[in-house]
Amino acid sequence: MDDNETLRTIKNRRAIRDYDTSKDVPDELVYKVIEAGGYAPSAENQQPWRIIIVRDKQLQEFIGQKAVDRTIELFGRATPREELERRLSYIESKASLERTIDILITGARFEYIKGKPETNGAPVLLVLAVDQTHIGNSQATLRGTGGVYGWSSPRHAVIAGSMMMQNMALAAASLGLGSCVSSVQLDHFDDVGAISEKLNIPFPHWVPILCLTLGYALYERTLGPPRQTPEEIAFLNKWGESFKGGRK
Ligand SMILES: Cc1cc2nc3c(=O)[nH]c(=O)nc-3n(C[C@H](O)[C@H](O)[C@H](O)COP(=O)(O)O)c2cc1C
Repeated sequence: MDDNETLRTIKNRRAIRDYDTSKDVPDELVYKVIEAGGYAPSAENQQPWRIIIVRDKQLQEFIGQKAVDRTIELFGRATPREELERRLSYIESKASLERTIDILITGARFEYIKGKPETNGAPVLLVLAVDQTHIGNSQATLRGTGGVYGWSSPRHAVIAGSMMMQNMALAAASLGLGSCVSSVQLDHFDDVGAISEKLNIPFPHWVPILCLTLGYALYERTLGPPRQTPEEIAFLNKWGESFKGGRK
């Protein structure tokens, strides 16, 4: 069976880290992307998400620098080189492998978040924050079965936020935009606090969990890192039982 348009969009969406800085993303498109995000499912339809659209270059720089610093910490200092080589062993060309390791250990891989033309930065950075108050107060009128206080949990909010993020990345791809989900600058408690403060996010009730850069890709990228097949991912009925998906 051939893939339809939706499946092709899903498969062709790539993490874009080099943007054509001569092209801005109009607010109309940002609106469409966020609107599609809002159609993601959420427990009890709590819609426990808020997005900060960061266009301010100083704020982008601040958030991007956190990503660069944390990457140097994680990949440059905390991960042995053999481990980096093992993880990137799918890269066949020695030169590409060396280049990839280099941009990881120097943090250069995350310069794109800063939005600077010199480093092909993204014009728009979306920061997704999710409601962690436990009672769920982000959508007072659209609660489902949860009654006055709602039954959604902080974990549900993170899950729903992740689904929203995927909706936005796919919507962006369908509109011809490149995007990249990033979390490295929000993986450490100190960074989450500092970024929340800068963006006036009422942390810790609301917690930024992911960012999404948006812009036009500088290079076309359809080939992504390798994916596991359904045979590798799925079991039939019980763990360990193979699923062949209609194949012999
Ligand atoms: C939860 C999550 C966190 C991620 N964090 C980062 C990140 O901090 N920086 C980055 O450049 N890419 C990040 N990515 C993008 C992944 O590296 C990318 O999606 C993955 O390598 C697969 O490549 P593809 O999206 O091109 O198919 C993240 C993706 C997800 C879902």
